Amino acid sequence: MDFIPYGKQSIDEEDINSVVEVLKSDFLTTGSKVQDFEKALCTYTGAKYCVSVSNGTAALHLASLALLNENDEVLTTPNSFLATSNSILYAKAKPIFVDICEDGNIDLELCEKELQKNQNIKAIYAVHFSGKVVNQEKLRYLKQKYNIKILEDCAHSLGGSFENIKAASCENSDLSILSFHPVKHITTGEGGAISTNDKELYEKLLLLRNHGMKANPDVAPWHYDMIELGYNYRLTDISCALGLSQLKKLDGFLEKRKELVKRYENAFKECDFIKPLYPYDKGSAYHLFVIKCDFEKLNINKKDFVLQMREKNIGLQYHYIPINKQPFYKNLGYGSEKTPNMDKYYEQAISLPLYPSLSFEEQDYVIKNIKELLC
Ligand SMILES: Cc1ncc(COP(=O)(O)O)c(C=O)c1O
Repeated sequence: MDFIPYGKQSIDEEDINSVVEVLKSDFLTTGSKVQDFEKALCTYTGAKYCVSVSNGTAALHLASLALLNENDEVLTTPNSFLATSNSILYAKAKPIFVDICEDGNIDLELCEKELQKNQNIKAIYAVHFSGKVVNQEKLRYLKQKYNIKILEDCAHSLGGSFENIKAASCENSDLSILSFHPVKHITTGEGGAISTNDKELYEKLLLLRNHGMKANPDVAPWHYDMIELGYNYRLTDISCALGLSQLKKLDGFLEKRKELVKRYENAFKECDFIKPLYPYDKGSAYHLFVIKCDFEKLNINKKDFVLQMREKNIGLQYHYIPINKQPFYKNLGYGSEKTPNMDKYYEQAISLPLYPSLSFEEQDYVIKNIKELLC
């Protein structure tokens, strides 16, 4: 069996042709595909505005510059990729790590306790971990009651929803970010986007994406003024053409992911030591399928299990090593927060291969090998 990774892109001839078309055109960047992709993302998510950027980390960087002030404190989760909390530091603000719930998402009840204690908390950065969208009613309540900013990190949740509220629609948040890295739901190679319903934030993000400069045709047709310290975080037309083509297939990709999730759930339902992270959730976009294994009751530890699976050409993955326990964060004084749920989660959680082109045959091979080692 060829190596089976935990995630990968699904690219077809139509995707390739749409990229080739751009390569043969006059505009490789700053052309019409950028706006077309942004419009298509707005139509899909329901948000009013969208700014495409060069990757999800750039999206978080600009979002943090637009939302935060120096020394603001921000509640966030240890269970995410580094970029989520790093972006708070980029804006010279201070992340506060809050424990997670059973489903791997930030505990919004604990967030409220923090908000009651500390007036300097200006925002919550919530990640819809694995694709499961955090409770939107609670998010709305916290935003209104405590007058805070909300950023939704939707890198895992494009196509997901909580009841009828779609991920990245920004119904209860100021900004949402997306990533189009190849393991995500749709890809542009590298790529990301920020969505919002706030025109002022949208205009600020446009400026920040493009060196902080604004055309000033009143002076001359070629004249521009630099108003802010911005960046070049533009996404190319080549990438946007791929994104547009991929977006057409997103609902099909989601269906296949869910079909694979149901097959995994069915395969492990008799195994006492393996549990899905949460019961099947039809609103989850299932970027990841995470299982919790009770290694204390098994005669193998987590690391050896993952290593032995690699010997069988199966790539399992850890999502995530707690951010606050990273050496860099420890040097900043983090790492001793009380996060018992995250600690236990980290001992038990493993992500299994999940992507639209994973065949049932490959999935059955993964299941068979897990059962041989654990059941
Ligand atoms: C939750 C989360 N946020 C942000 C990012 C950053 O996205 P990118 O890799 O496109 O920079 C990732 C990427 O893995 C992610 O998983």
